[in-house]
Amino acid sequence: MSGGILDRVQPHLLSAPPYVPVLPPETLAQRLGLPVESILKLDANENQFGPSPKALEALAKARSYHIYPDPEQAQLRQTLGRYVDYGPEWLVAGAGSDELIELALRLFVPPGEAILNFPPTFGMYTFLADTLGQKAINVNRRADHSIDMEAALAAVPRTRLIFAVSPNNPTGTSLTRAELDALLATGLPVVVDEAYAEFAGESYAPLVREHSNLIVIRTLSKWAGLAGLRIGYMIADPSLMEIAMRVKQPYSVNVAAEVATLASFEDLPLLHERVAAIVSERERLAALLASLPGFEAVPSRANFILVRLNGIEAKQVQARLREKGIMIRYFDSPLLQNHLRISVGLPRQTDRLVAALGEIVNKLSAENRSGVPRA
Ligand SMILES: Cc1ncc(COP(=O)(O)O)c(C=O)c1O
Repeated sequence: MSGGILDRVQPHLLSAPPYVPVLPPETLAQRLGLPVESILKLDANENQFGPSPKALEALAKARSYHIYPDPEQAQLRQTLGRYVDYGPEWLVAGAGSDELIELALRLFVPPGEAILNFPPTFGMYTFLADTLGQKAINVNRRADHSIDMEAALAAVPRTRLIFAVSPNNPTGTSLTRAELDALLATGLPVVVDEAYAEFAGESYAPLVREHSNLIVIRTLSKWAGLAGLRIGYMIADPSLMEIAMRVKQPYSVNVAAEVATLASFEDLPLLHERVAAIVSERERLAALLASLPGFEAVPSRANFILVRLNGIEAKQVQARLREKGIMIRYFDSPLLQNHLRISVGLPRQTDRLVAALGEIVNKLSAENRSGVPRA
């Protein structure tokens, strides 16, 4: 409608593609007509153990929810810094890694300029770049999910900021030291998103000291089970972090997130035990998936597994799991045809998932053989 309010919206936002979010269990239960307890969310790489008991206790006890959070993030930056062996001046905390991804985009990329992105990867980089009127130059990964460095380096002069991820979502594969070195040598700022680093048992954070163009982003969403509270942090040169502190929203990390984070670090042994349990469950799940006909699991360093299906339609598998209340991710992009991504759950959840998969695969194969048309 001409002259309407939409004429006043920035044109790039009218056409920006939406982020495809995951839905909460209550919404899924309602849509599927199932009891909420039967919903098994293995679609967002959440931590099925939940938050640390100490975090839950601290949240129940805290009384300062009517007071704004500390805009200097003094205690938070101190505690997070101790965890990664940096002083507080090397860190900025945000409302999940997502806020820090956006902050990096705001810091380095003017509207109309481009980021360098390596699909298949986390969709947030291009989604947020789009909303800021920025562009993305996508250099597709090779078949083994490594970075096509020749093509990447050729694209560098047209870009302002590189997004690398380790382990990468959805492939679960790590960025190699040689790949990182080559990216850092370009002189461009390089964000290494380490949302899943704890499950890989490796991090490039120690290199931040040596490379002023390296920015590592971490989160408590996955290993510490705090996805719903939105808490992440960025590690980079103090001169950059000082500017980041100045230009970020001052109160974006809410009091509950701060309380839960500080208490989680009082419960590190338990949280580390849970990470170890998830890693061993990942290996068990990988073996079980590999035993299903047509399932090819990509070896993962994260808390999820990417699976390529051969001779079975991944879309059908996802749809039929969904009918049973089990949620997983389906990809149908040109780079990930007929793939599924499954988050690692607790042992009993793995058992439920694998039993359901076995049943579905058998049915689909029988339908294929008898030529039953599928919805
Ligand atoms: C690679 C990667 N980075 C960041 C995030 C988002 O993390 P946060 O919950 O801290 O915003 C995710 C979530 O799935 C992810 O896969």
